[in-house]
Amino acid sequence: MTKAIILSGGWGTRLRPLTCTIPKTLIPVVNKPVMERQILLLKAAGVKEVVLAVSVMDDVIKKYFGDGEKLGIKINYTVEKHPRGTAGAVKLAEDYLKGDNFFVLNGDVILNNNLKEMLKFHEENKGIGTIAGKIVDDPSRYGVLIVNNETKQLLNFLEKEKYSPPNGKIVPMPINAGVYVLEPEIFSFIEPEKKISMEREIFPKVLNEKKLFYYPISGIWNDVGKPYDLLKTNILLMNDIINNLERDVKNLIDNSANIHPTTEIYAPCTVGENVIIHGECKIGPNVVIGDNVLIENRAELSNCLIYNEVYISNNVKIDNAIIADNCNIRENVIMKGNNENLVILSSFVEVLNNIKIIAPNTFSLSVCHHEVVKEDMK
Ligand code: GTP
Repeated sequence: MTKAIILSGGWGTRLRPLTCTIPKTLIPVVNKPVMERQILLLKAAGVKEVVLAVSVMDDVIKKYFGDGEKLGIKINYTVEKHPRGTAGAVKLAEDYLKGDNFFVLNGDVILNNNLKEMLKFHEENKGIGTIAGKIVDDPSRYGVLIVNNETKQLLNFLEKEKYSPPNGKIVPMPINAGVYVLEPEIFSFIEPEKKISMEREIFPKVLNEKKLFYYPISGIWNDVGKPYDLLKTNILLMNDIINNLERDVKNLIDNSANIHPTTEIYAPCTVGENVIIHGECKIGPNVVIGDNVLIENRAELSNCLIYNEVYISNNVKIDNAIIADNCNIRENVIMKGNNENLVILSSFVEVLNNIKIIAPNTFSLSVCHHEVVKEDMK
């Protein structure tokens, strides 16, 4: 019976300071943690048992998922005292996984591919491993897959620093989507008790055996590695969910939300449970609001993520920003990011009246958890 392991032990440094208070794989995307979405996808493919390979903030993850009963799937854990790398984590779960082939998912990717089809493809090819790839316009940030398009054999696996585009021209290429099906044979390639990377150390070795295959993943795929990716992934998934609903709706608004009739919603937006939005606000487009959020009069929100338990006072304007849980934004505050450079508030930040936080053109502006912003930031 095919099982799965989800890698969830990384530091998530590129998402700091958001990941100072919440592990990356528990960060919500359209109001549900990335890893919960993955578990549900695996369950839909018939997987009945998963291992969560945890390390950083392992207790928070265990508390959230428990033994998996709530999701209707059996969840086991392996805990690395210090992250052992993506292959080291898989090796640690050998006893759980060695009976049959198994899925490996990087715990920070959002996808909606039918994983059953990937498993079927893997079993037909009889390789040691199948790596899902996604064709992206700019592959330079990722591990690039060089493939034989006819046989679907993987010919080379170039980590980002080793890939240089032909003639310096960026062209769309398949990249490592962080989703694999592996045979138990893989364990013999991984030395125990060591920090080892699957992508950098193990796959290149298996490549030499000509037993790695490439599966072009369909549907949506995005990782939440950096803040802008997180915003983009939320928008992508929100649109996908809305487009696939049977009802003709343009927004995902929970029934418990209380929105004043003078407030305008510009699609697409998501509004979670027990949210109150007072009058004359402009919400959207591209806004995801979590649960128990209170927004006072005349607030204007666009291109932003507002996590749970946030308070937003009168006349606040937010654009291109991520506001983590329990933040408190006082009156007349303006927060504005700039394309990929966002304003990011970590959990429990308070921003005092009349403050402006404006991200520059070249980097995101972040505020660490529990800080009180008393002066403008630019
Ligand atoms: P950055 O520090 O921002 O690069 O993020 P990260 O630590 O999450 O690393 P990366 O994006 O490369 O990781 C991809 C996935 O693998 C994430 O879901 C990580 O949680 C997971 N991961 C990375 N390293 C380890 C590890 O050593 N052990 C385990 N169990 N998981 C890991």
